[in-house]
Amino acid sequence: MPAQVTASAANVQAFRGEIVDFVGDPALLGAGALRHHADGVLVVRDGRVAALGPAKATLRTLSQDAVVTDYRGKLIVPGFVDTHVHYAQTDMIASYGAQLLEWLERYTFPAEARFKDPEHAHEVAEFFTDELLRNGTTTAMAFATTHKHSVDAIFEAARRRSMRLIAGKVLMDRNVPKAVRDTAQTGYDDSKALIEAWHGRDRLGYAVTPRFAPTSTERQLDLCGKLLEEHPGVHLQSHVAENKSEVAWVAEVYPWSRSYLDVYDHYGLLCERAVYAHCIHLDAEDRQRMAATGAAMSFCATSNLFLGSGLFDLAAAHAAGIRVGLGTDIGGGTTLSMLRTMAESYKVCQMAGQTLSPLQAFYLATLGGAASLYLDADIGNFDVGKEADFVVLDPAATPHLARRIDRATTLDEKLFALMILGDDRAVHATHILGSRAHVRGGA
Ligand code: GUN
Ligand code: ZN
Repeated sequence: MPAQVTASAANVQAFRGEIVDFVGDPALLGAGALRHHADGVLVVRDGRVAALGPAKATLRTLSQDAVVTDYRGKLIVPGFVDTHVHYAQTDMIASYGAQLLEWLERYTFPAEARFKDPEHAHEVAEFFTDELLRNGTTTAMAFATTHKHSVDAIFEAARRRSMRLIAGKVLMDRNVPKAVRDTAQTGYDDSKALIEAWHGRDRLGYAVTPRFAPTSTERQLDLCGKLLEEHPGVHLQSHVAENKSEVAWVAEVYPWSRSYLDVYDHYGLLCERAVYAHCIHLDAEDRQRMAATGAAMSFCATSNLFLGSGLFDLAAAHAAGIRVGLGTDIGGGTTLSMLRTMAESYKVCQMAGQTLSPLQAFYLATLGGAASLYLDADIGNFDVGKEADFVVLDPAATPHLARRIDRATTLDEKLFALMILGDDRAVHATHILGSRAHVRGGA
């Protein structure tokens, strides 16, 4: 019936361009992890990947009225995954002159206290999610604030854009100003209500969110473990071992602990779907525990440099077999751009006497991030059946980038130039479930 033919063709979209994604970790598989079509077509049906292949052969399989968007001259990669970010710190990014603990007191807690006003939370959430899309980020794991409605605000904003987002209410019941403090019981009750309201709804997931060990009582950490037990499939996000003064503080507050990470381990908070930001000042036993439990690390390069926290040891994480993703960590971090974040990650590795190949960097920003969030069955590459979130990168976004890429002779060189010189200007378009959610310059 003609009506049906039209309907099914309308649900099929095809995108032609240079296509790059990963089928595994280049650290383990080398170049075998890469899937590359210099002239490829990505076919999307009902928001999911229906086919991926070389242009000529794939175009032949499409019905004549299928819509083909021509992105030739551009690079199509899976949507970026930001594994650690604070949406409520959008307005206090670039706050001068302090390391972690003083920075939290001086800038962060006052900024987060403003989220008492639901209207403020809503306005920031709208701006933040638009900025994610403008930077090619289609999935994020985000901290809200201690206020329950701050979580509603970010989930509502993500839901309106059909984005994948994991978020949670910040739990902190000691050692912070009253304006941002909860109690073990209210924190538990609010988290439970939010899980019931949001977890698994559309593309949203909930993360139990103890800010970090020194701002939670033992009772609160205990209840975090209880929330995880009561709600299988829920995520957890926190911070660990970012700054030396912070590590010393945790040793004072938890004198019985073997290490900072051991505090979380004690309460059953090292587990699959748990993501720990920073993970700088860890030892071999800590790393072994992260690997054994399936907890993931978020490598937050711009934040670690900006706050002077230290250098993430990517080689040690790899050697231990730990899941790693990249995080922007706004507002300790200095950009929401995952391209900028890849560039700074490369420089951190250089400072540590290590390296980060362009393939490894793009893997970490896509499939590696998805695996850290345990979302790699749904997103992260262009396997048939996965959700079709992707970014269209423009190698000619700036005169200098265009000039450098003109001289590139390999894909590696091209990807490296994009990550070192690229930023939001290199994001030509962002697609969510196949539909264009952002295009540079409007239109
Ligand atoms: N540790 C505890 N809270 C925070 C935060 O908001 N940002 C960073 N970078 N580290 C933290
Ligand atoms: Zn953080």
